[in-house]
Formats: sequence, structure tokens, C-alpha cells
Amino acid sequence: MSVVIETPRSRKRPGFNLEKYGWMYMRLSGVLLVILIFGHLFANLMVGEGIHAINFAFVAGKWASPFWQVWDVTMLVLALIHGTNGMRTLVNDYAEVEWIRRTLVWLLWIVCATLIVIGILALTTFTPCGDASSISLLGKDGANVAALCPVK
Ligand code: HEM
Repeated sequence: MSVVIETPRSRKRPGFNLEKYGWMYMRLSGVLLVILIFGHLFANLMVGEGIHAINFAFVAGKWASPFWQVWDVTMLVLALIHGTNGMRTLVNDYAEVEWIRRTLVWLLWIVCATLIVIGILALTTFTPCGDASSISLLGKDGANVAALCPVK
């Protein structure tokens, strides 16, 4: 019995093709993530004292800069949508029961949206300046952080 293989690139349905744009998103975000992730690792682990410089004050200093806020928000949003869309592909491939597949895909996007909202809130509203008692919890970093904060 002969098998007819569908012509590659043939369109089954006219109109907006979500799978095509999802496929393109994975490639495009992959290229951007290489730059963002390796830039992030380079800045945190290789510049200056490298990994030894990482502490609360280091992160507070980075997040005081609009450049790193934009960098980190972009990395967060692109990576979460990339990872979620990749997991959606895996679920579509392996979940055999339709209601389980639909539930898992919904759960994936709900978790993704929640993490994006929490992450953006953390990145944009973060302040190292708590009250004196919370700054004292930072131990020796407390002095550096207190120096960044307005006098109360
Ligand atoms: C250097 C950064 C990255 C690059 C270049 C990259 C690239 C890619 C590409 C091209 C695909 C599509 C593969 C295919 O369709 O066969 C893919 C799939 C996927 N990516 Fe990434 N990715 C990166 C980072 C990440 C991160 C940070 C996550 C998690 C948050 C992630 C999770 C996934 C998942 C779950 C899939 C689906 C796997 C599959 O289809 O077998 N990736 N990635």
C-alpha cells in the first residue's frame, strides 16, 4: 500500500496560523536569549570580582539601573514565554486524553502569566531601603545598602 506524504508547507486552513508564529517565536526568542543569558552570566560572574561580588547589595545596585531593569524584564518575559510554549509543544505531543491536555496547557499559561506579573512587580518596585531593623538583617552588606538609602 502506498503512503501519500503531504506537501511540505501546504496550508491546511487559511487565516492566522498560530503554530507557525509559535515556531518562529521559539527561534527568534532563542537568538535573543543567547545574548541576554550570556550577557547576564558575563556581567554577574566574570566582570570585576566575579561571583565573589554577588550579594544583596550587588543585586540592589543592578536593579537601581534602568538598563539592567529593562535587560532583566526582557529576559524574564522572553524566557518564560519560550519555556511555556516549549512545554505546550511537549504536552501536545504526549498528552493523549484531550481534557488532560487542555488542562495542562491552561495551567502552563496561568503559571507563566503569574510568574511574569510577580517578576515584573519585583523588578520594578524593588527597593533595598527597608526600615533599620530589616537593613540590620543584611549583616555586613547592611552598611553598603544603608549608604544607598535616604536618611529617615
Ligand atoms: C540560550 C537560550 C536558548 C536557546 C537558544 C533556545 C532555543 C530553543 C529552540 C530553537 C527551541 C525549539 C526546538 C524545536 O522546536 O525542536 C527550543 C525549545 C524549548 N526551549 Fe529553549 N532555548 C533557550 C533557552 C531556554 C530557556 C531559558 C528555557 C526555559 C525557561 C527553554 C525551554 C525550552 C523548552 C521547554 C523547549 C521545548 C523542547 C522541545 O520541543 O523538545 N529554553 N529552545
